[in-house]
Amino acid sequence: PIILSQSALANRDSLTYPFEERGLQFGDGVYEVIRIYQGSYYLISEHVNRLFRSAEAIRIELPFSKQEITNLLHDLLIQNEMTSDGIVYLQATRGSAPRSHAFPADTPANVYAYIRDMPRKTEYLANGASTITLPDTRWMNCYIKSLNLLPNVLAKQEAQENEAYEAILEHEGKVTEGSSSNVFLVKGGKIYTHPATNSILHGCVRMRIEQFASDLDIAFIEQPFSAADIADADELFLSSSTSEVMPIIEVDGKEVADGLPGKITQKLQTAYEVDAG
Ligand code: PDD
Repeated sequence: PIILSQSALANRDSLTYPFEERGLQFGDGVYEVIRIYQGSYYLISEHVNRLFRSAEAIRIELPFSKQEITNLLHDLLIQNEMTSDGIVYLQATRGSAPRSHAFPADTPANVYAYIRDMPRKTEYLANGASTITLPDTRWMNCYIKSLNLLPNVLAKQEAQENEAYEAILEHEGKVTEGSSSNVFLVKGGKIYTHPATNSILHGCVRMRIEQFASDLDIAFIEQPFSAADIADADELFLSSSTSEVMPIIEVDGKEVADGLPGKITQKLQTAYEVDAG
């Protein structure tokens, strides 16, 4: 069934999952988080496209077309009388059936979505965030926005226990991305970030940053950098639908450059604000 909350504020807590839900039992599903600014979605077609890519990658057949889900998501805004800043969380699972690892026969996907308020993180956006580095212990298909987030959960928890906003993940000496964000380094006026391979989630905001950089005539180089490169970076920042373009001012207790948000980061933040309206 397609279960979309009718009214997030009134009814969200009364929504229940089927007892044998593959999303719960196996993490057998995919999800999206789409930003809402003043009651309107930002980058909705990018997110819907990625939802379909993720679902296809794990062989879940979605019970609607891209246009249909887009319409449903717009209806959800109206039903919720949404006019503030928030997010929609949407997950699609392989459905509910007696527990057995292999795909159940003739079982339709379950799709859930709800809206909730989420103010912009203005303090961090203005002043920057601290981070720690951790090994990237995830699987080899990180481009799929899978419900399996245990390594991400553990990394974010460790960040929080170290009073950091985000954990920057490293694989074989190279920074892949954050536990729930993409990570970028600025050196000599150029932006460096891990290429959009299977090792990272291809962020919708990352995609926009590439465009902003092109508009601003700033080189955007898809080349991985190492933790050692951070030591003499000019700037570092992260991106996601919930964190936007956020300066990183500290890594593992050491300041990035002079410990203040960087100039190019701030230009990208301005471009983001204009784009997000
Ligand atoms: N996470 N990398 C990872 C591992 C992520 O989980 C996310 C987003 C991103 C950034 O993607 P985008 O720009 O499309 O939001 C990168 C969402 C916000 C979450 O899990 O809550």
